[in-house]
This record gives sequence, structure tokens and C-alpha cells, in this order.
Amino acid sequence: MDRQIIGIVSGKGGVGKSTIAVNLSTLLTSFNIDNVLVDGDTSNPSVGLHLGIWQHSYGLQDVLAGKIAAEEAIVVHPATGIRVIPSSLRYLREVGMKNLPKVLDSIKTYKYITIDSPPGVSEDVENIMKSCNELVVITTPDVPSVTSATKIIDLAESIRVPVAGLVVNRILNKRYELHMQEIESMCNTRIIGKIPEDSRVPESIAVKVPLAMYAPKSPASIALNNLAAELVGQRMLRQPTSTDGFFARIANLFRSLLRR
Ligand SMILES: Nc1ncnc2c1ncn2[C@@H]1O[C@H](COP(=O)(O)OP(=O)(O)OP(=O)(O)O)[C@@H](O)[C@H]1O
Ligand SMILES: [Mg+2]
Repeated sequence: MDRQIIGIVSGKGGVGKSTIAVNLSTLLTSFNIDNVLVDGDTSNPSVGLHLGIWQHSYGLQDVLAGKIAAEEAIVVHPATGIRVIPSSLRYLREVGMKNLPKVLDSIKTYKYITIDSPPGVSEDVENIMKSCNELVVITTPDVPSVTSATKIIDLAESIRVPVAGLVVNRILNKRYELHMQEIESMCNTRIIGKIPEDSRVPESIAVKVPLAMYAPKSPASIALNNLAAELVGQRMLRQPTSTDGFFARIANLFRSLLRR
């Protein structure tokens, strides 16, 4: 199989891209799929903050600037084993994304690369999208977010990068929310993931443990699991693996710490 480079994109900010990217990478790792997560949001890096790994000396910007090789910037997240190229919090100025395809080419051994993108349709976002062979567009079920999603989908079409589908996040099932059919027809794109609003999400970010590990049975976690399975072509929920016991133990430890 060719490697998959999946861009997690959105028109509007704050819709859940980083949360979804971190958890997809966590789940792919738990499926034993070789993958690396790249924090493409160099102006507001948050992957490292979600995972509690922000003290690294280097980041994606150093790789893009040609200061170090991509392999040297890979950090292993101790609790989950996910491989991450974080963006550094040290940089105030933007380092353009023009070199991203070259950077991704240099880490060919990973089967899946997930890129957490900044929001909007900036030149950086366009360069990130061009580096991907598949995009997942995240939206929330409201008109402003879905309207922005249509812009990203139009951009993807104009640069000929396929959209694997839409993920609707933070669903509350309130009457004022857009229905799934309305979102699909506004975007002319299939919905491949529906993630409910879930208080376990901000809780997991506060303790810096991916939701999929922190609360694997929470509704949002189950929805993320289905999305990961859909993306890697397994329609069914995964069978428990030997890592589950380990994940469950770590999750319990963090839960008990939080209760104190
Ligand atoms: N399903 C959910 N349930 C509850 N809260 C959620 C859910 N998904 C995301 N959030 C919350 O939404 C906020 C924004 O999430 P996140 O940072 O992942 O969005 P983003 O799209 O990456 O934002 P940005 O565009 O700024 O990079 C976080 O505080 C997170 O806790
Ligand atoms: Mg983000």
C-alpha cells in the first residue's frame, strides 16, 4: 500500500482539528499502524500542548528551515508511543510551508502521516493541502462553520486533492443545529464521522492525555474510533489488542489523579 498523508483541515477555527488529529494518531498507533503526527499549525502549535510534550528543543519550523532532518525532530510520546513532529513554541515569525512535501518525503517509512492544519484558506494551508493525498474536513453543525467548510472543499477541488469526507464535531442534537443531510448537501460531501459534544474532551486536554486513551468508552472516543476505522478501511470496531490493558491502566491512573 502507498502511504497515506491525511490533512485535517477546516474553514473555521476551533472546531476540533487538533483534538481529532491527536486522537486519530493515538488510535492508528493502537491499531499497530506505523504513523507520524505532524503539527502543521506553526503559528498556534497545540499538538504538543495536548500531549504534554512542549519542552522539545526542535520543531517542524527547524525542519522546514533546513536546520535539522525530519527524523531528528520526531518525538515519541511516552504514554501512547505516538510519533510526533511538534511545532516549536519558540518561533514568533512564520516559517513557510513550501518545503513541506520535501520534509514528508524524507520520512517515507511511515505508512500514515496525519497533519494538523491551521484553520482557513491561507497560503500555508494551501501548501499543507497540496502535500496531502487525502483531506478530512472538520466542521461543527452550524451555518458559519459549514459555510467555511465549503470554501476549503472548493479549494481542495481546485488544487485536485481528494476530500475523504466531512467530520461533524460537537454534535448536541439540538433543534437549532444543522441536520446531517443539510450539511452533506451544503458541502456536496459525504459525512464520514459524527462526534458528539463530550465533556471528556476538554478534561482529556487538561490532563494532557489523548481522549482515546483517557476515556476510551466515552461517546466522543467511540465516534473517533469509528472514524479511524473508516479511514484505515476497517468498518468494524477494532478487536481488543494487548495494548488495551496498558492503555486502560494508564487511563485509570489519570482519572484517579483528577478525582483527588
Ligand atoms: N467533541 C467535543 N466535545 C467537547 N469539546 C470539544 C470537542 N471537540 C473539541 N472540543 C473543544 O474545542 C476546543 C477546540 O478544539 P481544538 O483545539 O481541537 O480545535 P482546532 O480546530 O484545532 O482549533 P484551531 O483552529 O484554533 O487550531 C477545545 O477546547 C476542545 O476541548
Ligand atoms: Mg488546532
